[in-house]
Amino acid sequence: MILDKKLIDKFTGITSRAAISCYKYIGKNDKTIADKAATDSMRNNLNNLHINGKVVIGEGELDEAPMLYIGEKLGTGKGPNVDIAVDPLEGTNFAAKNLPGALSVIAITSKGNLFNAPETYMDKLAVCSEVPNDATDIDFPVEKNVKNVADYKNVDLNKITVCMLDRPRHIDIIDRLKKLKVNLKLLTDGDISGALLVTNKKYNIDIFMGIGGGPEGVLAASALDAFNCKFQGRFLFKTDDDIKRANKMGIKDLNKKYNLNEIVKGDSIFCATGITSGDLVEGVKVVNDKYITETFVTHKTSSNIIIKKEVPLLD
Ligand code: FBP
Repeated sequence: MILDKKLIDKFTGITSRAAISCYKYIGKNDKTIADKAATDSMRNNLNNLHINGKVVIGEGELDEAPMLYIGEKLGTGKGPNVDIAVDPLEGTNFAAKNLPGALSVIAITSKGNLFNAPETYMDKLAVCSEVPNDATDIDFPVEKNVKNVADYKNVDLNKITVCMLDRPRHIDIIDRLKKLKVNLKLLTDGDISGALLVTNKKYNIDIFMGIGGGPEGVLAASALDAFNCKFQGRFLFKTDDDIKRANKMGIKDLNKKYNLNEIVKGDSIFCATGITSGDLVEGVKVVNDKYITETFVTHKTSSNIIIKKEVPLLD
């Protein structure tokens, strides 16, 4: 089913307002309060929309009783049946410390079309649409992936840039990439945005890889799908609790490698509004008596655009 284009404006409004709610907590060095402001705003405003929505990726599970828990019903119930993935504040450190890259993010599909991801880590690989599908694979050695991308782009390895989170768990991959003389972009946080850097040459990122949050992987996948990029992910289950949760969600093969079309199916809308300015969009600004927000929007069946919104200060 195609998602009505009118939903773009509605969901851009949701992430914009969540970003604005967070604005006064930028640089207060308090992740919790900033996250709560964005989450409360997102939940209240989603509940006013004429949709019959269900959270498939949210702020936690019902037994933890957070706002926007997985399975929570949202909206007035009068409207399209949609599955919703939310990350009201992606990059809690960025907002708390007033650093670039904090976003408010949402993705929607028709009911049943968005993967219900467990709250665990995911090994990820994203590549731009020009590279053929079989040139890269999460199971290939990292050397093979970067060499194949360099071959298809017809450039030397020292012209390839790989993006990933800067984490001790990536030390081995980073060392191997350094030996190949590949360039690195190492993120302190924010791997939704990191993955989306493969969507456009202007970001100068050829491959995104490495381990980050599973929910963030699904959110990024929904936007990458609208750019026909390649994405693969494999969840990593370390603890018994992780495994129990996966079983509860119906995941039988814990080692399964998921391709993009198994994570997001059919039409989708993705909105990421800047809270602090970053690679993708500008953060919230106050100009005269208005907040100005910028949102990175993808709609698989129409277009991928940046939307600017103005919201009166007293709203
Ligand atoms: P939060 O906004 O929840 O703090 O997540 C930030 C983030 O960097 C994500 O983008 C990423 O997927 C995840 O944390 C990585 O987790 P970790 O910091 O444990 O490596």
